[in-house]
Amino acid sequence: MVENPRGQFVTIEGCEGVGKSTNIAFIAESLKKADIPYILTREPGGTPLAEDIRNLFLSPRSERVAENTELLLVFAARAQHIAEVIEPALAAGTWVVCDRFTDATFAYQGGGRGISAAKIASLEQWVQDDLRPDFTLLLDAPIAIGMDRVSKRGELDRMEREHQQFFENVRNSYLEMAAQHGDRYRVIDASQNLCDVQKALSAIISEMLSHANR
Ligand code: TMP
Repeated sequence: MVENPRGQFVTIEGCEGVGKSTNIAFIAESLKKADIPYILTREPGGTPLAEDIRNLFLSPRSERVAENTELLLVFAARAQHIAEVIEPALAAGTWVVCDRFTDATFAYQGGGRGISAAKIASLEQWVQDDLRPDFTLLLDAPIAIGMDRVSKRGELDRMEREHQQFFENVRNSYLEMAAQHGDRYRVIDASQNLCDVQKALSAIISEMLSHANR
């Protein structure tokens, strides 16, 4: 019996308000047209338990949330998500398109909160073994553009209430990771109009499809 090739693991990253949801829907539509079996999921979240952790993580509260608590919450959710959703799907040959993954931890808890990359990398290894994304699409735009969109959405979550410099640091960490891992990262200028963003995405999707067929 011929076994299914393993699915591709595609992660979508970026700061708040860069248009992840719209563009993830576009990616899903393109995979569907190409007859690729896929699931869409997100972090923190993706299983009932991990979604409960997401709610804990994002609800505004008066108690200060310690940096390490934040770090362990995202990895607790991730451990559950990997075991219950991501690994089984990839093993069955299904592509996993994930709205954020561990690069968000390097960007937000690392760049934003100041936790060392070495500490995050040790948890990454512990929780993920050798699971890493095949492709990471970074939607990048100046912080002011994203924050303007977020402020129009209504009530802000605990992370969205952070100050501008926090998000500048998050964005810089993402751009540094993109430069460092050019093999899997593709950066899309999300400040362009939607049509140009989707043109750029289409080219990347074609590249991912041909990579998977190799
Ligand atoms: P969003 O995915 O709906 O944008 O919201 C998730 C928020 O959680 C966002 O502010 C980024 C943050 N986050 C972290 O701080 N660390 C992580 O590891 C992940 C996955 C998300």
